[in-house]
Amino acid sequence: MKPLLLASLLLLAAPALADESSIELKPGAGLEQVQAGCSGCHSLDYIQMNSVFLTHDGWKAEVNKMRQAYGAPIDQPMADEIIQYLSAQYGVPPKS
Ligand code: HEC
Repeated sequence: MKPLLLASLLLLAAPALADESSIELKPGAGLEQVQAGCSGCHSLDYIQMNSVFLTHDGWKAEVNKMRQAYGAPIDQPMADEIIQYLSAQYGVPPKS
Protein backbone atom coordinates (compact mmCIF):
# COMPACT_ATOMS: atom_id res chain seq x y z
CA MET A 1 0.00 0.00 0.00
CA LYS A 2 2.61 2.51 1.03
CA PRO A 3 5.01 2.21 -1.97
CA LEU A 4 2.05 2.40 -4.33
CA LEU A 5 0.82 5.58 -2.70
CA LEU A 6 4.29 7.11 -2.96
CA ALA A 7 4.51 6.21 -6.63
CA SER A 8 1.23 7.88 -7.45
CA LEU A 9 2.25 10.98 -5.53
CA LEU A 10 5.44 11.17 -7.59
CA LEU A 11 3.43 10.85 -10.77
CA LEU A 12 1.28 13.75 -9.68
CA ALA A 13 4.28 15.86 -8.74
CA ALA A 14 6.23 15.35 -11.97
CA PRO A 15 4.22 17.63 -14.27
CA ALA A 16 4.25 20.38 -11.67
CA LEU A 17 8.05 20.22 -11.50
CA ALA A 18 8.44 20.17 -15.26
CA ASP A 19 6.32 23.28 -15.48
CA GLU A 20 8.38 25.37 -13.10
CA SER A 21 10.27 27.33 -15.74
CA SER A 22 7.15 28.29 -17.66
CA ILE A 23 5.44 30.23 -14.87
CA GLU A 24 2.56 32.30 -16.22
CA LEU A 25 3.41 35.99 -16.19
CA LYS A 26 0.85 38.67 -16.99
CA PRO A 27 0.47 39.43 -20.70
CA GLY A 28 1.87 42.75 -21.89
CA ALA A 29 4.45 44.44 -24.09
CA GLY A 30 7.89 43.11 -23.24
CA LEU A 31 6.75 39.75 -21.93
CA GLU A 32 8.68 37.91 -24.63
CA GLN A 33 11.88 39.72 -23.72
CA VAL A 34 11.39 38.82 -20.09
CA GLN A 35 10.78 35.19 -20.92
CA ALA A 36 13.86 35.13 -23.15
CA GLY A 37 16.19 37.11 -20.92
CA CYS A 38 15.16 36.27 -17.37
CA SER A 39 14.48 32.56 -17.32
CA GLY A 40 17.98 31.27 -18.08
CA CYS A 41 19.28 31.12 -14.52
CA HIS A 42 16.25 30.92 -12.27
CA SER A 43 12.53 30.50 -12.49
CA LEU A 44 10.36 33.44 -13.47
CA ASP A 45 8.57 33.13 -10.14
CA TYR A 46 11.40 35.32 -8.76
CA ILE A 47 9.60 38.13 -10.55
CA GLN A 48 6.27 37.37 -8.93
CA MET A 49 7.86 36.97 -5.51
CA ASN A 50 9.55 40.35 -5.70
CA SER A 51 6.70 42.21 -7.34
CA VAL A 52 5.14 43.09 -3.99
CA PHE A 53 7.70 45.75 -3.20
CA LEU A 54 9.67 46.82 -6.31
CA THR A 55 9.03 50.21 -7.87
CA HIS A 56 10.15 51.26 -11.37
CA ASP A 57 13.57 52.21 -9.97
CA GLY A 58 13.67 49.00 -7.98
CA TRP A 59 13.12 46.91 -11.10
CA LYS A 60 15.68 48.97 -12.97
CA ALA A 61 18.26 48.24 -10.29
CA GLU A 62 17.23 44.60 -10.25
CA VAL A 63 17.66 44.18 -14.01
CA ASN A 64 20.99 46.01 -13.93
CA LYS A 65 22.14 43.76 -11.12
CA MET A 66 21.21 40.67 -13.14
CA ARG A 67 23.26 42.03 -16.02
CA GLN A 68 26.25 43.42 -14.16
CA ALA A 69 26.63 41.13 -11.18
CA TYR A 70 25.41 37.89 -12.70
CA GLY A 71 26.18 38.45 -16.38
CA ALA A 72 22.65 38.12 -17.79
CA PRO A 73 22.99 38.29 -21.60
CA ILE A 74 20.67 41.27 -22.09
CA ASP A 75 21.55 44.36 -24.15
CA GLN A 76 20.41 47.89 -23.32
CA PRO A 77 17.35 48.10 -25.64
CA MET A 78 16.15 44.75 -24.35
CA ALA A 79 16.78 45.79 -20.75
CA ASP A 80 14.68 48.92 -21.30
CA GLU A 81 11.77 46.86 -22.60
CA ILE A 82 12.09 44.45 -19.70
CA ILE A 83 12.12 47.29 -17.16
CA GLN A 84 9.06 48.83 -18.85
CA TYR A 85 7.23 45.53 -18.68
CA LEU A 86 8.18 44.78 -15.09
CA SER A 87 7.24 48.18 -13.74
CA ALA A 88 3.98 48.25 -15.71
CA GLN A 89 2.87 44.74 -14.79
CA TYR A 90 4.62 44.08 -11.48
CA GLY A 91 5.71 47.46 -10.13
CA VAL A 92 4.35 49.27 -7.11
CA PRO A 93 3.98 53.08 -7.03
CA PRO A 94 7.00 54.86 -5.53
CA LYS A 95 6.67 55.95 -1.91
CA SER A 96 6.55 59.70 -1.64
C1 HEC B 1 23.00 35.08 -15.67
C2 HEC B 1 22.00 34.49 -14.78
C3 HEC B 1 20.75 35.32 -14.47
C4 HEC B 1 19.88 35.88 -15.37
C5 HEC B 1 19.89 35.78 -16.88
C6 HEC B 1 18.87 36.56 -14.57
N1 HEC B 1 19.12 36.39 -13.23
FE1 HEC B 1 17.95 37.02 -11.69
N2 HEC B 1 19.21 36.16 -10.35
C7 HEC B 1 20.39 35.50 -10.68
C8 HEC B 1 21.08 35.12 -9.45
C9 HEC B 1 22.42 34.38 -9.39
C10 HEC B 1 20.25 35.56 -8.39
C11 HEC B 1 20.51 35.49 -6.89
C12 HEC B 1 20.71 34.12 -6.39
C13 HEC B 1 19.45 33.37 -6.22
O1 HEC B 1 18.68 33.69 -5.31
O2 HEC B 1 19.18 32.43 -7.03
C14 HEC B 1 19.08 36.18 -8.99
C15 HEC B 1 18.03 36.72 -8.26
C16 HEC B 1 16.96 37.40 -8.80
C17 HEC B 1 15.88 38.01 -8.04
C18 HEC B 1 15.70 37.94 -6.54
C19 HEC B 1 16.16 39.18 -5.84
C20 HEC B 1 17.65 39.31 -5.82
O3 HEC B 1 18.12 40.38 -6.22
O4 HEC B 1 18.37 38.36 -5.43
C21 HEC B 1 15.06 38.63 -8.94
C22 HEC B 1 13.80 39.46 -8.67
C23 HEC B 1 15.61 38.40 -10.26
N3 HEC B 1 16.76 37.63 -10.14
C24 HEC B 1 15.06 38.89 -11.43
C25 HEC B 1 15.61 38.71 -12.69
C26 HEC B 1 15.10 39.35 -13.90
C27 HEC B 1 13.92 40.31 -13.94
C28 HEC B 1 15.88 38.90 -14.93
C29 HEC B 1 15.79 39.34 -16.38
C30 HEC B 1 16.10 40.74 -16.61
C31 HEC B 1 16.87 37.99 -14.37
N4 HEC B 1 16.68 37.91 -13.02
C32 HEC B 1 17.83 37.32 -15.11
C33 HEC B 1 20.86 35.24 -11.95
C34 HEC B 1 20.27 35.64 -13.13
